[in-house]
Amino acid sequence: MQELVLPRPDDWHVHLRDGAALRSVMPSSARMGRLIVMPNLVPPVTSIDDALAYRERIQAAMPEGSTAEPLLTAYLTDRTDPEELRRGYAQGVWVAAKLYPAKATTNSDAGVTDVSRILPALRVMAEIGMPLLVHGEVTRSEVDVFDREATFLREVLGPLLDELTDLRCVVEHATTRAAVDFVAARGPRVGATITPHHLWWNRNALFDGGLRPHAYCLPVLKREEDRRALREAATSGDASFFAGTDSAPHAISAKEKDCGCAGVFNAPTAVAGYAAVFDEEGALHRLRGFLSEHGAAFYGLAPRADTVRIVRRPWVAPETIPLEGGGSVRVFLGGTPLPFSVE
Ligand code: DOR
Ligand code: ZN
Repeated sequence: MQELVLPRPDDWHVHLRDGAALRSVMPSSARMGRLIVMPNLVPPVTSIDDALAYRERIQAAMPEGSTAEPLLTAYLTDRTDPEELRRGYAQGVWVAAKLYPAKATTNSDAGVTDVSRILPALRVMAEIGMPLLVHGEVTRSEVDVFDREATFLREVLGPLLDELTDLRCVVEHATTRAAVDFVAARGPRVGATITPHHLWWNRNALFDGGLRPHAYCLPVLKREEDRRALREAATSGDASFFAGTDSAPHAISAKEKDCGCAGVFNAPTAVAGYAAVFDEEGALHRLRGFLSEHGAAFYGLAPRADTVRIVRRPWVAPETIPLEGGGSVRVFLGGTPLPFSVE
Protein backbone atom coordinates (compact mmCIF):
# COMPACT_ATOMS: atom_id res chain seq x y z
CA MET A 1 0.00 0.00 0.00
CA GLN A 2 1.51 3.32 -1.08
CA GLU A 3 -1.50 5.52 -0.55
CA LEU A 4 -4.83 5.39 1.30
CA VAL A 5 -7.73 7.76 0.75
CA LEU A 6 -10.08 7.88 3.73
CA PRO A 7 -13.04 9.99 4.80
CA ARG A 8 -11.56 12.80 6.89
CA PRO A 9 -10.70 11.17 10.26
CA ASP A 10 -12.59 12.22 13.38
CA ASP A 11 -11.17 12.68 16.86
CA TRP A 12 -13.66 11.35 19.40
CA HIS A 13 -11.77 12.71 22.43
CA VAL A 14 -9.67 15.86 22.46
CA HIS A 15 -8.68 18.65 24.85
CA LEU A 16 -8.63 21.98 23.02
CA ARG A 17 -8.13 24.09 26.17
CA ASP A 18 -9.07 27.76 26.18
CA GLY A 19 -7.67 31.24 25.60
CA ALA A 20 -4.10 31.50 24.31
CA ALA A 21 -3.56 27.72 24.57
CA LEU A 22 -6.68 27.08 22.46
CA ARG A 23 -5.44 29.47 19.80
CA SER A 24 -2.03 27.74 19.83
CA VAL A 25 -3.24 24.13 19.51
CA MET A 26 -6.41 24.56 17.46
CA PRO A 27 -4.60 24.49 14.09
CA SER A 28 -3.30 20.99 14.93
CA SER A 29 -6.81 19.58 15.45
CA ALA A 30 -8.44 21.66 12.72
CA ARG A 31 -7.50 19.13 10.04
CA MET A 32 -9.68 16.47 11.65
CA GLY A 33 -13.40 16.04 10.96
CA ARG A 34 -15.57 15.82 14.05
CA LEU A 35 -13.95 16.74 17.38
CA ILE A 36 -15.48 15.54 20.63
CA VAL A 37 -14.26 18.36 22.85
CA MET A 38 -13.59 17.64 26.51
CA PRO A 39 -15.21 20.01 29.04
CA ASN A 40 -12.52 20.03 31.77
CA LEU A 41 -11.82 23.75 31.62
CA VAL A 42 -11.44 25.99 34.66
CA PRO A 43 -14.28 26.48 35.43
CA PRO A 44 -15.71 23.38 33.72
CA VAL A 45 -18.36 23.42 30.98
CA THR A 46 -21.46 22.55 33.01
CA SER A 47 -24.23 24.71 31.54
CA ILE A 48 -25.71 25.33 28.11
CA ASP A 49 -24.46 28.90 28.27
CA ASP A 50 -20.91 27.73 29.08
CA ALA A 51 -20.98 25.36 26.13
CA LEU A 52 -22.34 27.91 23.67
CA ALA A 53 -19.72 30.45 24.70
CA TYR A 54 -16.91 27.84 24.50
CA ARG A 55 -18.03 26.73 21.05
CA GLU A 56 -17.79 30.33 19.87
CA ARG A 57 -14.27 30.64 21.24
CA ILE A 58 -13.30 27.40 19.49
CA GLN A 59 -14.79 28.57 16.22
CA ALA A 60 -12.96 31.89 16.50
CA ALA A 61 -9.68 29.98 16.97
CA MET A 62 -10.18 27.74 13.92
CA PRO A 63 -7.91 28.59 10.98
CA GLU A 64 -9.51 29.94 7.78
CA GLY A 65 -10.89 27.12 5.69
CA SER A 66 -10.93 24.47 8.43
CA THR A 67 -13.93 22.18 8.15
CA ALA A 68 -13.54 20.62 11.61
CA GLU A 69 -16.80 20.32 13.54
CA PRO A 70 -16.45 20.78 17.29
CA LEU A 71 -19.00 18.69 19.19
CA LEU A 72 -19.25 19.77 22.78
CA THR A 73 -19.74 17.75 25.94
CA ALA A 74 -21.21 18.53 29.35
CA TYR A 75 -19.11 18.09 32.49
CA LEU A 76 -21.07 16.07 35.05
CA THR A 77 -20.97 17.15 38.68
CA ASP A 78 -22.82 16.05 41.80
CA ARG A 79 -25.21 18.91 41.10
CA THR A 80 -25.89 18.38 37.38
CA ASP A 81 -29.48 19.24 36.53
CA PRO A 82 -30.89 16.40 34.40
CA GLU A 83 -33.21 18.84 32.62
CA GLU A 84 -30.26 21.03 31.58
CA LEU A 85 -28.70 17.93 30.01
CA ARG A 86 -31.94 17.15 28.22
CA ARG A 87 -32.35 20.70 26.90
CA GLY A 88 -28.75 21.01 25.75
CA TYR A 89 -28.93 17.66 23.97
CA ALA A 90 -32.22 18.50 22.27
CA GLN A 91 -30.81 21.85 21.12
CA GLY A 92 -27.65 20.26 19.74
CA VAL A 93 -25.46 22.25 22.14
CA TRP A 94 -23.75 19.10 23.37
CA VAL A 95 -23.72 15.53 22.12
CA ALA A 96 -22.63 13.66 25.25
CA ALA A 97 -21.71 14.14 28.91
CA LYS A 98 -18.39 13.36 30.54
CA LEU A 99 -18.01 11.65 33.87
CA TYR A 100 -14.82 12.58 35.68
CA PRO A 101 -14.58 10.89 39.04
CA ALA A 102 -13.59 13.71 41.41
CA LYS A 103 -9.79 14.06 41.62
CA ALA A 104 -9.13 11.45 38.93
CA THR A 105 -7.26 13.77 36.58
CA THR A 106 -6.62 17.33 35.31
CA ASN A 107 -9.39 19.73 36.40
CA SER A 108 -11.58 17.04 37.87
CA ASP A 109 -12.03 18.65 41.28
CA ALA A 110 -15.63 19.48 40.41
CA GLY A 111 -16.20 15.91 39.18
CA VAL A 112 -18.56 13.31 40.54
CA THR A 113 -17.88 12.02 44.04
CA ASP A 114 -20.14 8.96 43.67
CA VAL A 115 -22.15 7.81 40.66
CA SER A 116 -25.19 7.35 42.89
CA ARG A 117 -25.38 11.16 42.96
CA ILE A 118 -25.88 11.43 39.21
CA LEU A 119 -28.34 8.57 38.76
CA PRO A 120 -31.22 10.96 37.89
CA ALA A 121 -29.03 12.53 35.19
CA LEU A 122 -27.96 9.13 33.88
CA ARG A 123 -31.58 7.98 33.72
CA VAL A 124 -32.43 10.97 31.54
CA MET A 125 -29.39 10.28 29.35
CA ALA A 126 -30.47 6.65 28.93
CA GLU A 127 -33.98 7.82 28.02
CA ILE A 128 -32.85 10.31 25.36
CA GLY A 129 -29.92 8.28 23.99
CA MET A 130 -27.26 10.75 25.11
CA PRO A 131 -23.93 8.92 25.51
CA LEU A 132 -22.04 8.87 28.79
CA LEU A 133 -18.30 9.32 28.28
CA VAL A 134 -16.27 8.01 31.18
CA HIS A 135 -12.87 8.64 32.59
CA GLY A 136 -12.90 5.14 34.03
CA GLU A 137 -10.69 5.15 37.09
CA VAL A 138 -11.38 4.84 40.79
CA THR A 139 -9.49 7.34 42.92
CA ARG A 140 -9.15 5.53 46.25
CA SER A 141 -5.58 5.83 47.51
CA GLU A 142 -5.41 2.17 48.49
CA VAL A 143 -5.96 1.07 44.87
CA ASP A 144 -2.74 0.80 42.87
CA VAL A 145 -2.65 3.41 40.10
CA PHE A 146 -2.14 0.66 37.50
CA ASP A 147 -5.30 -1.14 38.69
CA ARG A 148 -7.63 1.84 38.83
CA GLU A 149 -9.19 1.37 35.41
CA ALA A 150 -9.95 -2.32 35.84
CA THR A 151 -11.30 -1.64 39.33
CA PHE A 152 -13.61 1.10 38.05
CA LEU A 153 -15.00 -1.15 35.33
CA ARG A 154 -15.62 -3.99 37.74
CA GLU A 155 -16.97 -2.02 40.68
CA VAL A 156 -18.66 1.00 39.12
CA LEU A 157 -19.33 0.87 35.39
CA GLY A 158 -20.31 -2.80 35.11
CA PRO A 159 -23.05 -2.58 37.75
CA LEU A 160 -24.20 0.78 36.36
CA LEU A 161 -24.63 -0.58 32.84
CA ASP A 162 -26.39 -3.64 34.23
CA GLU A 163 -28.86 -1.34 35.96
CA LEU A 164 -29.36 1.22 33.18
CA THR A 165 -29.71 -1.14 30.26
CA ASP A 166 -30.42 1.63 27.73
CA LEU A 167 -27.49 3.84 28.71
CA ARG A 168 -24.95 4.24 25.90
CA CYS A 169 -21.39 4.65 27.02
CA VAL A 170 -17.83 5.23 25.81
CA VAL A 171 -14.91 4.00 27.88
CA GLU A 172 -12.57 6.87 27.05
CA HIS A 173 -8.85 6.28 26.50
CA ALA A 174 -9.04 2.54 27.21
CA THR A 175 -5.66 1.37 28.50
CA THR A 176 -5.99 -2.26 29.56
CA ARG A 177 -6.92 -5.71 28.37
CA ALA A 178 -9.64 -5.56 31.03
CA ALA A 179 -11.16 -2.54 29.26
CA VAL A 180 -10.94 -4.18 25.85
CA ASP A 181 -12.70 -7.29 27.15
CA PHE A 182 -15.30 -5.20 28.99
CA VAL A 183 -16.21 -3.25 25.84
CA ALA A 184 -16.09 -6.19 23.44
CA ALA A 185 -18.45 -8.15 25.68
CA ARG A 186 -21.08 -5.41 25.76
CA GLY A 187 -21.57 -4.90 22.07
CA PRO A 188 -22.76 -1.84 20.25
CA ARG A 189 -24.10 0.25 23.10
CA VAL A 190 -20.62 0.47 24.68
CA GLY A 191 -17.67 1.86 22.76
CA ALA A 192 -14.09 2.78 23.57
CA THR A 193 -11.64 5.35 22.32
CA ILE A 194 -7.98 4.39 22.01
CA THR A 195 -5.15 6.93 21.94
CA PRO A 196 -2.05 6.84 19.73
CA HIS A 197 0.25 6.95 22.74
CA HIS A 198 -1.30 3.92 24.43
CA LEU A 199 -0.81 2.05 21.13
CA TRP A 200 2.83 3.15 20.84
CA TRP A 201 4.05 2.93 24.41
CA ASN A 202 3.89 0.66 27.42
CA ARG A 203 4.76 1.86 30.90
CA ASN A 204 8.47 1.35 30.35
CA ALA A 205 8.31 4.60 28.36
CA LEU A 206 7.87 6.43 31.68
CA PHE A 207 11.26 5.24 32.89
CA ASP A 208 13.27 4.96 29.67
CA GLY A 209 16.78 5.90 30.82
CA GLY A 210 15.33 8.31 33.37
CA LEU A 211 12.01 9.78 34.41
CA ARG A 212 10.03 10.86 31.33
CA PRO A 213 7.35 13.43 32.14
CA HIS A 214 6.22 13.68 28.52
CA ALA A 215 5.07 10.06 28.63
CA TYR A 216 2.93 10.74 31.69
CA CYS A 217 -0.80 10.75 31.07
CA LEU A 218 -3.93 9.49 32.77
CA PRO A 219 -4.91 6.75 32.77
CA VAL A 220 -1.22 6.00 33.06
CA LEU A 221 0.53 3.77 30.49
CA LYS A 222 0.14 0.07 31.28
CA ARG A 223 1.93 -3.22 30.65
CA GLU A 224 3.03 -4.59 27.29
CA GLU A 225 0.22 -7.17 27.40
CA ASP A 226 -2.27 -4.30 27.70
CA ARG A 227 -0.72 -2.47 24.76
CA ARG A 228 -0.99 -5.69 22.76
CA ALA A 229 -4.68 -5.97 23.65
CA LEU A 230 -5.28 -2.36 22.58
CA ARG A 231 -3.52 -2.98 19.26
CA GLU A 232 -5.60 -6.10 18.69
CA ALA A 233 -8.82 -4.25 19.51
CA ALA A 234 -8.04 -1.21 17.36
CA THR A 235 -7.09 -3.33 14.35
CA SER A 236 -9.79 -5.99 14.84
CA GLY A 237 -12.47 -4.27 12.77
CA ASP A 238 -14.80 -4.33 15.81
CA ALA A 239 -16.89 -1.16 15.46
CA SER A 240 -16.87 -0.60 19.24
CA PHE A 241 -13.30 0.71 19.02
CA PHE A 242 -12.48 4.09 17.50
CA ALA A 243 -9.91 6.86 17.47
CA GLY A 244 -9.85 9.37 20.30
CA THR A 245 -6.48 11.02 20.63
CA ASP A 246 -6.87 12.41 24.17
CA SER A 247 -4.51 15.08 22.87
CA ALA A 248 -3.91 17.03 26.09
CA PRO A 249 -1.44 19.90 25.75
CA HIS A 250 0.45 21.25 28.75
CA ALA A 251 3.33 23.71 28.52
CA ILE A 252 6.73 22.02 28.86
CA SER A 253 7.24 24.05 32.03
CA ALA A 254 4.08 22.48 33.51
CA LYS A 255 5.29 18.94 32.75
CA GLU A 256 8.97 19.15 33.61
CA LYS A 257 8.56 20.01 37.28
CA ASP A 258 7.81 18.58 40.67
CA CYS A 259 4.23 17.28 40.31
CA GLY A 260 4.09 17.65 36.53
CA CYS A 261 0.78 17.60 34.66
CA ALA A 262 -0.69 14.51 33.00
CA GLY A 263 -1.24 14.66 29.27
CA VAL A 264 0.31 13.92 25.88
CA PHE A 265 -0.05 16.44 23.06
CA ASN A 266 -0.43 14.29 19.96
CA ALA A 267 -2.77 16.24 17.68
CA PRO A 268 -0.06 17.00 15.07
CA THR A 269 0.98 13.35 14.66
CA ALA A 270 -2.10 11.34 15.64
CA VAL A 271 -3.22 10.21 12.19
CA ALA A 272 0.30 9.33 11.04
CA GLY A 273 0.90 7.63 14.39
CA TYR A 274 -2.23 5.48 14.12
CA ALA A 275 -1.37 4.63 10.50
CA ALA A 276 2.09 3.42 11.53
CA VAL A 277 0.54 1.13 14.16
CA PHE A 278 -1.96 -0.35 11.70
CA ASP A 279 0.86 -0.86 9.20
CA GLU A 280 2.95 -2.71 11.81
CA GLU A 281 -0.04 -4.92 12.60
CA GLY A 282 -0.69 -5.67 8.90
CA ALA A 283 -4.11 -4.02 9.22
CA LEU A 284 -4.01 -0.89 7.05
CA HIS A 285 -7.21 -2.12 5.38
CA ARG A 286 -8.95 -1.58 8.73
CA LEU A 287 -7.67 1.93 9.36
CA ARG A 288 -10.70 3.47 7.64
CA GLY A 289 -13.13 1.90 10.11
CA PHE A 290 -11.12 2.94 13.14
CA LEU A 291 -10.36 6.52 12.01
CA SER A 292 -13.38 7.46 9.92
CA GLU A 293 -16.37 5.14 10.38
CA HIS A 294 -16.81 3.45 13.76
CA GLY A 295 -16.98 6.57 15.90
CA ALA A 296 -19.31 8.33 13.51
CA ALA A 297 -21.66 5.34 13.55
CA PHE A 298 -21.64 5.27 17.36
CA TYR A 299 -22.69 8.93 17.41
CA GLY A 300 -25.30 8.38 14.69
CA LEU A 301 -23.39 10.25 12.00
CA ALA A 302 -22.26 9.37 8.49
CA PRO A 303 -18.54 9.32 7.74
CA ARG A 304 -17.26 12.66 6.54
CA ALA A 305 -17.83 13.28 2.84
CA ASP A 306 -14.41 14.92 2.33
CA THR A 307 -11.20 12.92 2.35
CA VAL A 308 -7.55 12.85 3.38
CA ARG A 309 -4.69 11.03 1.68
CA ILE A 310 -2.28 9.01 3.76
CA VAL A 311 0.87 8.50 1.72
CA ARG A 312 3.80 6.21 2.45
CA ARG A 313 6.37 8.95 2.53
CA PRO A 314 8.68 9.50 5.52
CA TRP A 315 7.78 12.49 7.63
CA VAL A 316 9.22 14.04 10.76
CA ALA A 317 7.01 16.33 12.89
CA PRO A 318 8.54 19.20 14.85
CA GLU A 319 9.55 18.36 18.42
CA THR A 320 7.60 21.27 19.88
CA ILE A 321 5.08 23.90 18.94
CA PRO A 322 5.17 27.41 20.42
CA LEU A 323 2.47 28.67 22.75
CA GLU A 324 1.04 32.11 22.21
CA GLY A 325 2.32 34.29 25.03
CA GLY A 326 5.47 32.22 25.59
CA GLY A 327 6.63 28.68 26.22
CA SER A 328 6.00 25.63 24.09
CA VAL A 329 4.44 22.17 24.08
CA ARG A 330 6.21 18.90 23.32
CA VAL A 331 4.72 17.01 20.36
CA PHE A 332 4.17 13.24 20.69
CA LEU A 333 6.51 11.53 18.18
CA GLY A 334 7.94 14.92 17.24
CA GLY A 335 11.44 14.37 15.86
CA THR A 336 10.73 10.66 15.26
CA PRO A 337 10.73 9.58 11.59
CA LEU A 338 7.24 8.31 10.73
CA PRO A 339 6.54 6.18 7.64
CA PHE A 340 3.45 8.14 6.56
CA SER A 341 2.55 11.68 5.58
CA VAL A 342 -1.02 12.97 5.71
CA GLU A 343 -2.35 15.34 3.03
O1 DOR B 1 -3.53 12.69 30.62
C1 DOR B 1 -4.59 13.28 30.72
N1 DOR B 1 -4.70 14.60 30.49
N2 DOR B 1 -5.67 12.59 31.09
C2 DOR B 1 -6.84 13.19 31.36
O2 DOR B 1 -7.76 12.52 31.74
C3 DOR B 1 -6.97 14.66 31.28
C4 DOR B 1 -5.97 15.23 30.39
C5 DOR B 1 -5.84 16.73 30.56
O3 DOR B 1 -6.87 17.43 30.53
O4 DOR B 1 -4.73 17.21 30.68
ZN1 ZN C 1 -8.96 13.29 28.04
